[in-house]
Amino acid sequence: MPSDGRPLRSNQRQDELDPGRPESGLPEQDFWEVLYGRRSIRRFKDDPVPEKLIDQVLHAGIWAPSSCNYQMWDVVAVTDPEVNATLAELSSQMGNAPTNLVVSYGRDFSEEGWANIQSASAMIQNMSLAAHALGLGTFWITQMGDREKVREVVGLPFDRLVIAVLALGYPAKLNAKAPGRRPLERVTHFNSYAGEAIPSSTDPRDWTPELLKIYQRARVLNGLRHNKPRAWEVRALEQMLASFVKDGQSKPEDESQELPRWLDVLPCNGIVTDRLSRERRGFAFDIVERSPEVGAFVSKRTRPKAGILAWPPEAATEHFESPAESTYDVVSCLFRLEDTPPDERKRLLSAMKSWLKPGGQLIIGYVSASSFHQSSERLRKRRGGPGGVEYVLSPDPNIGPFEALAPSSIEAMLEAEGIRVEQRLGLQAVPQPEEIEFRTRNFSGRSKQLVRTAGKLLSCLEKLPGYEKRRARFQFISARK
Ligand SMILES: Cc1cc2nc3c(=O)[nH]c(=O)nc-3n(C[C@H](O)[C@H](O)[C@H](O)COP(=O)(O)O)c2cc1C
Repeated sequence: MPSDGRPLRSNQRQDELDPGRPESGLPEQDFWEVLYGRRSIRRFKDDPVPEKLIDQVLHAGIWAPSSCNYQMWDVVAVTDPEVNATLAELSSQMGNAPTNLVVSYGRDFSEEGWANIQSASAMIQNMSLAAHALGLGTFWITQMGDREKVREVVGLPFDRLVIAVLALGYPAKLNAKAPGRRPLERVTHFNSYAGEAIPSSTDPRDWTPELLKIYQRARVLNGLRHNKPRAWEVRALEQMLASFVKDGQSKPEDESQELPRWLDVLPCNGIVTDRLSRERRGFAFDIVERSPEVGAFVSKRTRPKAGILAWPPEAATEHFESPAESTYDVVSCLFRLEDTPPDERKRLLSAMKSWLKPGGQLIIGYVSASSFHQSSERLRKRRGGPGGVEYVLSPDPNIGPFEALAPSSIEAMLEAEGIRVEQRLGLQAVPQPEEIEFRTRNFSGRSKQLVRTAGKLLSCLEKLPGYEKRRARFQFISARK
């Protein structure tokens, strides 16, 4: 940078290097505002993007750095509604914007260093920023279904690998709140790495409670978009409530009456607590969480707002206290032992018992390792499905590590704590139709049909006597202190 603070500029004539690049008529924009103001836009107006603007976005794209400056990228800007509709059949994500920019790069170019992916990504980011500066919106699509089909639809030759698609259009709706960022000091280091990395492993043994806390805090920063309830899980929860908790369905008419108290343990994204508190308004809810931030996220989803308490006891502070002993009529831990490191599970169970009033009810829900869950996971991996912590096929895919639990291990833990099991309930021994629909949403038509037929055949199994109870994925236990 010259000493007067202006950026260094080459004095070459730009139109010689990139004929047609707009030299004037571009909106004046502050770089930092563009950088920090860009957001992924997922809802667009129907208005087409004028060709001139698409052109400007593409010009910005080719000024990205590329490995050896080989620029082996090829972009197809799809503006034809019919072609876009065909793309949308491959993945609904490509059905949102009037323009889809299909970005490809030399398939085998420098695969070892992923230089093709890196160069194309630099181009995509350049285009996203330029689009934002021009008043347009974009979102980066990797979930495009079968990328070879995308390539064929837009007529790219085999030796081009489709890296991603950038949806482009006029924003219809801007998210009021930007998804937050992990704190800089957690992510960046000077000279040598001095942190504790979040594992990509889904095995709870590879995680410490502290890492789980950091990861979950980062997940909730993304807001509700990544934390949606699924119909089949909600149904299981409602069935559990109908069978285990008959009281407290509505608020007592006498408002001065003190409500029985319910503590929900490690609710993380709050989907379950949200539902519990709606279905059982006759209880006063508290939650216990690993960090006040995640606690606040959950509490916002409950009406009235649940009280926020601390786990583990060492995390407690003056404003983030541990739950008091012998306080709760109900303590629930629903699909949270699966992500808890095994050593912590016993400690948690013992604490849950201590938080209950004498005679209080403990409710545990978990995904059983003796169910179809395990084989569907194996199938997904074989199919080359996404791996890593965010993609575990679980009742709640965004909580980090996950392992389905053996019913015998849960029973042994309860016995060791002297907790009396009163009722057991097993639900969904085969995948439900809505779940099959959801999990296969990006499959090709043929694979989708195949899985649906398999699902129908499997559903006959559920009718066999005792099968659902024994082989159910969702297992619930009600016990007393
Ligand atoms: C490599 C990559 C792939 C992405 N894929 C998708 C996608 O398939 N679908 C989607 O809705 N968003 C996708 N996104 C957008 C991210 O979800 C988004 O950038 C992130 O939540 C941060 O939000 P912001 O872009 O508004 O700052 C992708 C982003 C990147 C960088």
